[in-house]
Amino acid sequence: MKIEKVGVVGCGLMGHGIVQVAAAGGHQVVACELDQGALDKGIGRIEKSLAKFASKNVEKGKMSEDEAQAWAAEVRGRITPSTEVTALHDCDLVVEAIVENLDIKKSFFAELGANAKPDAIFASNTSSFPVREMAAASGRPERFVGLHFFNPVQLMRLVEVVRTDETDEEVFAAARAFGEACGKSPVGCKDTPGFVVNRLLVPYMVQAISMLDRGDASKEDIDTAMQLGCGYPMGPLTLTDYVGLDTTLSILEGWTARYPDDPAFAIPESLRLKVSEGKLGRKTGEGYYSWEGDKKS
Ligand code: CAA
Ligand code: NAD
Repeated sequence: MKIEKVGVVGCGLMGHGIVQVAAAGGHQVVACELDQGALDKGIGRIEKSLAKFASKNVEKGKMSEDEAQAWAAEVRGRITPSTEVTALHDCDLVVEAIVENLDIKKSFFAELGANAKPDAIFASNTSSFPVREMAAASGRPERFVGLHFFNPVQLMRLVEVVRTDETDEEVFAAARAFGEACGKSPVGCKDTPGFVVNRLLVPYMVQAISMLDRGDASKEDIDTAMQLGCGYPMGPLTLTDYVGLDTTLSILEGWTARYPDDPAFAIPESLRLKVSEGKLGRKTGEGYYSWEGDKKS
């Protein structure tokens, strides 16, 4: 089961990175978005990131200037942008990276099931929803996996490959091999809430937000404590701003609806408030910190 042509649906924070690593791994990639504006924004981010990698490779003496330019152009050349779901008709694998809303994902997969070739593999990058529910909506549950990449996709080395009870063994193996071809280290997971990473990480972020809401420590001190005390690359409040407060809230709302008695998933007040005010983190310039590009205050 060889994956040569890949579709990625959603070209936002995660999707643009998945398009890029898939193309850098040698695949032809169709990058699909809702409208031309969102598509142009996603492709712009990819071009900026490719230029960054190219200049880093030159600085490190790994490539000449000409080789680096040619590499970036070759990767970009494998990407075909589209706003039509029908452009995915001949893809061997389609990875969905649209908003964390189960009803929207299910209706997307139902539409995709009717448009993609019968043996195509479908994957969701969901952070938290049951993969089996999207698999059922797609009409091809045995050819469905979770492929959970991490933010920023270009730099994070993990991908979780999630199998349901119905996932075909060969499909799981092909999805794992695709993750490796994208330069990632895959880990296999069952279809449990948050798989491995988010089941541990999201309750930790919740505890940090609750600590801030109670006034136990300042945001800077909470972040510094976890960076210097535990060796984490960034503190939990900075990380929440990176992930997106809307995405974090959607994950928690999904879990509290299914597991109302689990205190690990209790939603902090400030998270709801900030999302209702449109303060979604780094992507809107305001979350637990204020952001100007990479600079926070
Ligand atoms: N493209 C290309 N190059 C990039 C880039 C991009 N998109 N972003 C950064 N770089 C480059 C930088 O230019 C830099 O280059 P130099 O070394 O030449 O300066 C290099 O990559 C490293 O970047 P930074 O200086 O910003 O590096 P850092 O050491 O601060 O690391 C980080 C950044 C990898 C993001 C690190 O802070 C980190 O690992 N943070 C934690 C991230 C994390 O936990 N992610 C998981 C979130 S949870 C999730 O994703 C799951 C979910 O479902 C919610
Ligand atoms: P985002 O809001 O940055 O991007 C979502 C993109 O999907 C938007 O650009 C939107 O226009 C597009 N979109 C929505 N519906 C679409 C459709 N029907 N067809 C095509 N495009 C559509 O969100 P994100 O942070 O990239 O999250 C995407 C998915 O990845 C979510 O399921 C999220 O839980 C998951 N995820 C997020 C992170 C994170 O750190 N943010 C990490 C891992 C996984």
